[in-house]
Amino acid sequence: MYNNTSPLKFPENFLWGGATAANQIEGAWNEDGKGMTIEDCLPYREVGVADFTKQFAFTSKDLDEALAAGPEANYPKRRGIDFYHYYKEDIKMFAEMGYKVFRMSICWSRIFTDPRDEKPNEAGIAFYEDMFKECKKYGIEPLVTLSHYDPPVVLATDYRGWYSREVIDLFEKYARVCFERFGKYVKYWLTFNEVDAMLRHPVTSGALIEDRFTDMPFEQAIYQAMHHQMIASAKAVKIGHEILPDAQIGCMMTKLCFYPFTCKPEDNLANQQRMRGIYRYVDIQVFGEYPRYLLKEIENKGYTIQMAPEDAQILKDGCVDFVSFSYYMTSCMAANTEGLDMAPGNTVNGVKNPYLPSSEWGWQTDPTGLRISLVELYDRYRKPLFIVENGLGAKDVVAEDGKVHDPYRCEYLRDHVKAMSDAINEDGVELWGYTWWGCIDLVSESTRQMSKRYGFIYVDVDDYGNGTFKRIKKDSFDYYKQVIESNGENLEY
Ligand code: BG6
Repeated sequence: MYNNTSPLKFPENFLWGGATAANQIEGAWNEDGKGMTIEDCLPYREVGVADFTKQFAFTSKDLDEALAAGPEANYPKRRGIDFYHYYKEDIKMFAEMGYKVFRMSICWSRIFTDPRDEKPNEAGIAFYEDMFKECKKYGIEPLVTLSHYDPPVVLATDYRGWYSREVIDLFEKYARVCFERFGKYVKYWLTFNEVDAMLRHPVTSGALIEDRFTDMPFEQAIYQAMHHQMIASAKAVKIGHEILPDAQIGCMMTKLCFYPFTCKPEDNLANQQRMRGIYRYVDIQVFGEYPRYLLKEIENKGYTIQMAPEDAQILKDGCVDFVSFSYYMTSCMAANTEGLDMAPGNTVNGVKNPYLPSSEWGWQTDPTGLRISLVELYDRYRKPLFIVENGLGAKDVVAEDGKVHDPYRCEYLRDHVKAMSDAINEDGVELWGYTWWGCIDLVSESTRQMSKRYGFIYVDVDDYGNGTFKRIKKDSFDYYKQVIESNGENLEY
């Protein structure tokens, strides 16, 4: 529970809304000229909360199996929630809730069936164009991520993922098409989702498959691929600004937040170093150069990163306009974790905090940590902020009355909204907006489950693809509507 210390108040033009990603909602994985993505190749695996990282293990064998798999195989991202066919109905429901903004991502492989194609796939362009028009019809501003964890599979089959420098040019071509073709509908853009994530899950962020890197330490390959993504992102920002002078182009980071487990200096040092690691790549995107501590980190590991002579200037020319981030939970850091309980997160473990409650997936809920994060980010970057992911994954059930009663989600929302209000009104943070993650149930990124539900809208499909795909408003649907209608001032429920 978070108790706000000043009256609830949000700027008049505050952008309330919801967030999704193409690979987790669209489905229609092989329709209308869409090429295959890495996400289409991730099989459903039954794993427990404690061994969630097994989901991220991905080998060349897994890829071969996926490429050969028939329709009976369970690849949840291939079906998503069939947003591809339901988007009109879904956007109408978002409008009913009063959304001012809808965060979604474009699937690169819909725009270019093969990223090497000269010309884009017009059917893919038409799909997004129509979706943007639908948003505009209701006065909803699209917030578009160019790359949210779905590299084209060709990057893995015919390249070494983002380790191959040629991928920068392919991405540049794709970004240019997006700015040129969608610029009249879209003002807010993000380049890469959770840009720091490749070090945690290299295949979904970078199309990097470990067994293909026997000639070098895999971690070195990841740092190299990260460098290429930094260059691609900076290039996209520059091109976007040239084509669309009014566009606001941001970066997107995983805002992990750790506390020292005790006041021992060693725990504080461990925490400081962990927290610094969280900012590594966003520092590049905001300040236009590698921070010295990241260069040292790479050097101390004995790795060499190939940088082209022009790269320093490219980074300088491609600084972002705002900083966006995902925020779900916090945990602790200790210099020595022996004997301490660990808490799971989507891709990171930390020491369990005895003062925090946990979700059914063990994520430790902490609205105060959101306020702390907002202050840290604003003090560090002095750029407008945008919370583009925050939410609660839970096991919702359809009750006998046919409804979904989810007071836990309303409570989570209420407390995080209170914390945001204090960050704005007491701490002086400039916050542009808030998009609830998984505003409609979608396929989980870390567990690939449908049963880990985030939405205000229930989608009738299970982990195995059984169900009608029917949409049902949860109680939180009306609650978020009330929050938006009152511009964050009425949080009673
Ligand atoms: C973020 C990702 O890390 O967390 C999303 O950007 C993801 O794609 C979200 O869905 C929630 O994580 P999960 O694993 O519960 O889906």
